[in-house]
Amino acid sequence: PAASKIFHDPFSIVSHEMSNLAKSIANLIGSGHPTLNRVSSYYFEAEGKNVRPLIVLLLSKALSKIPLEQRNRIKIDTFDVTDQPHYKGTPTKTSIAGRGVDDSISPLAILHGINPKVILDPLSKPMDKLPKFDAVNGILPKQRRLAEIVEMIHTASLLHDDVIDLSDSRRGRPSGNIAFTNKMAVLAGDFLLGRASVAIARLRNPEVIELLSTTIANLVEGEFMQLKNTVLKNDDTNVIDNDGEDKLIPQETGKVPTKQHEYSIQCQDIVDHNTNVDAAFEYYLHKTYLKTASLMSKSSRAAAVLSGSQDEIIEKCYEFGRNLGLCFQIVDDLLDYTSSDASIGKPSQADLKLGLATAPILFAWKQDPSLGELIGRKFNQEGDVEIARKAVEKYNGLDQTKLMAQEYCYKALENLRVLPESDARSALEFLTNSILTRTK
Ligand code: FPP
Ligand code: MG
Ligand code: MG
Repeated sequence: PAASKIFHDPFSIVSHEMSNLAKSIANLIGSGHPTLNRVSSYYFEAEGKNVRPLIVLLLSKALSKIPLEQRNRIKIDTFDVTDQPHYKGTPTKTSIAGRGVDDSISPLAILHGINPKVILDPLSKPMDKLPKFDAVNGILPKQRRLAEIVEMIHTASLLHDDVIDLSDSRRGRPSGNIAFTNKMAVLAGDFLLGRASVAIARLRNPEVIELLSTTIANLVEGEFMQLKNTVLKNDDTNVIDNDGEDKLIPQETGKVPTKQHEYSIQCQDIVDHNTNVDAAFEYYLHKTYLKTASLMSKSSRAAAVLSGSQDEIIEKCYEFGRNLGLCFQIVDDLLDYTSSDASIGKPSQADLKLGLATAPILFAWKQDPSLGELIGRKFNQEGDVEIARKAVEKYNGLDQTKLMAQEYCYKALENLRVLPESDARSALEFLTNSILTRTK
């Protein structure tokens, strides 16, 4: 009991917002189709780390400590009559037939005898009678909505990622592709993105719309940079699907890919980063920025834009998210080597098998040039994965990777100094440190 008193949870300052997150997201993703509802809410049911919304909320709160007169851009945003009082409006009644944020009336609602007018969507109410500054607990409604949007985009990308990575588990449960098939997982991801886009548009802030739209494109660019050419190889082992149909795709299109086709596609991806360690690192870091740090950096920037802060602050918030995001993914790549499936709730030791050269093996390659060949062929020959693992151990690839993550962690902490001292800033510092030391 004494210990629990000593430890004060630094995140408790946004615990109210965090505990409402899932409920608010549920209100944004209701559709007229019960199965779509099940698939698109599936990953939200299991406890995720919620790192991205935590960053947005804590940062928003920390930014609120900057005196209003130092936030010269505040006028642009808080005088916006389209601001959304969705946290004060009538609670949305969701049901299997519930409406989301769109204006279409679900045929199922009518079928179930639900008067569509009763399913009030607070987002679609007129928004012209708003106080100019309606932050609650220092956090603006738009910033809360931003936290929800960011988690929706992230979850959409996970649904797609598990299809691409042929994963069978996430958050300690069967992954979406396994529980519902590839097709449904992909469609549910698309649906989440669509609803996220509606919510983004309703923030009524062109700069934020641009930032978040760019992160969606960046996620895809990052994923493309690490794509092994599995899709085009006519190879059953590359397809997990429990309805069997997807296996027919190459035949279905009537275009079984030819060897030449495969080759020309591969050439687009493999530049000279398999003969040049420095180029490979640069490629790895850029890919890591796009697939992970972009969402964190641009949503941090968006939180600052919404706070009306000055450009210098906005820039530092962006840098913070970028450094934190790079740290986060480098640690993720480290954990892939060191964790067990059980401890991280998803397949571990997977990257090499997927052909991915992440920091640990790149560090080993710096010292043993012969590894370039294995990396170039994406560890696809018998014994490659084993040789790579041994090399990582021999050349301390994991320690070096940890040091690299640590550097980004320190840079992120440095970026935070631009913010006034506060509980929220301390919580962000705590979060940054725990991303470095996390084990799952
Ligand atoms: C997890 O990485 C995946 C990502 C960080 C991004 C995935 C992005 C896409 C699939 C592009 C499509 C994007 C959208 C918005 C639909 P990981 O596979 O290294 O991590 P894991 O071990 O958690 O699977
Ligand atoms: Mg992946
Ligand atoms: Mg994955």
